Amino acid sequence: MNHETTPLFVRAAHVDEVESAFPLGVVLADGRRVCLVRDGETIHAVEDRCPHRDFALSGGDLVSPCVLECPWHGARFDIRTGAVLQGPATDAIMTFDVRVTDGIVLVGPCRS
Ligand code: FES
Repeated sequence: MNHETTPLFVRAAHVDEVESAFPLGVVLADGRRVCLVRDGETIHAVEDRCPHRDFALSGGDLVSPCVLECPWHGARFDIRTGAVLQGPATDAIMTFDVRVTDGIVLVGPCRS
């Protein structure tokens, strides 16, 4: 199976590259910049861009398993839904469908 050409789902990383507590920023073959976050056996994908001032969220910290904090001004987002939990950001971030096939993390269409 060629993961690069799977319709709608694009190869993002090997599943072992996504470590708990360490957001992973990747650029997909289609140009999307996404941030992968592991929560137990589940991997989430969100856009790797803070809507406040466009900083890469993958440089931030997970303040809890599903809450990602922007490293610049401290906005917090729920990586399951993209919702803003703390300003100064006011807009939600995009979240994407994720599949894991044969140890490969595939990122699909925007969910939010
Ligand atoms: S750039 Fe993320 S909170 Fe300002």
